[in-house]
Amino acid sequence: MTTILMVCLGNICRSPLAEGILKSKLPSEDFFVDSAGTSGYHEGEKPDLRSIEVALKNGLDISKQKSRRFIVEDFETYDYIYVMDHSNYNDVVHLARNTSDTNKVKLILEHTPDAYTLEVPDPYYGGNRGFDNVYELLDNACNQIAIALTCGE
Ligand code: 4NP
Repeated sequence: MTTILMVCLGNICRSPLAEGILKSKLPSEDFFVDSAGTSGYHEGEKPDLRSIEVALKNGLDISKQKSRRFIVEDFETYDYIYVMDHSNYNDVVHLARNTSDTNKVKLILEHTPDAYTLEVPDPYYGGNRGFDNVYELLDNACNQIAIALTCGE
């Protein structure tokens, strides 16, 4: 089983979408995908309604997810840790205990060479258009990740 963790700040907007999208592209017998937030601001909450809606519009149900905080043990549980922006990167790497932990952490757009940005913008304070943009960035990134993981790269 290969394990992948998606991380953002609140675990209610970006990383729940990333979790749902990547899950839909990988066989569940071989891959476990989860998400977490660097903050505990929304612990136990469902994803933001705008994320639930943009996912539904694209045929995915992410409404059963629950927000949780990233914990140090996640470095042991997960093979790959994908963060949405540099601030998430710094917060997660700050908790790393060694270089093996640090090496697991990647910006999710790092493997999407045609993306116009390396960061998935935080859509929390913006309008719905922001969520469409986030969905598109994450869908492209997850296509690349799914190809890399299933080709044994
Ligand atoms: P996320 O978005 O990190 O994509 O889940 C945010 C959600 C909530 C907050 C910030 C970002 N907040 O400050 O409550």
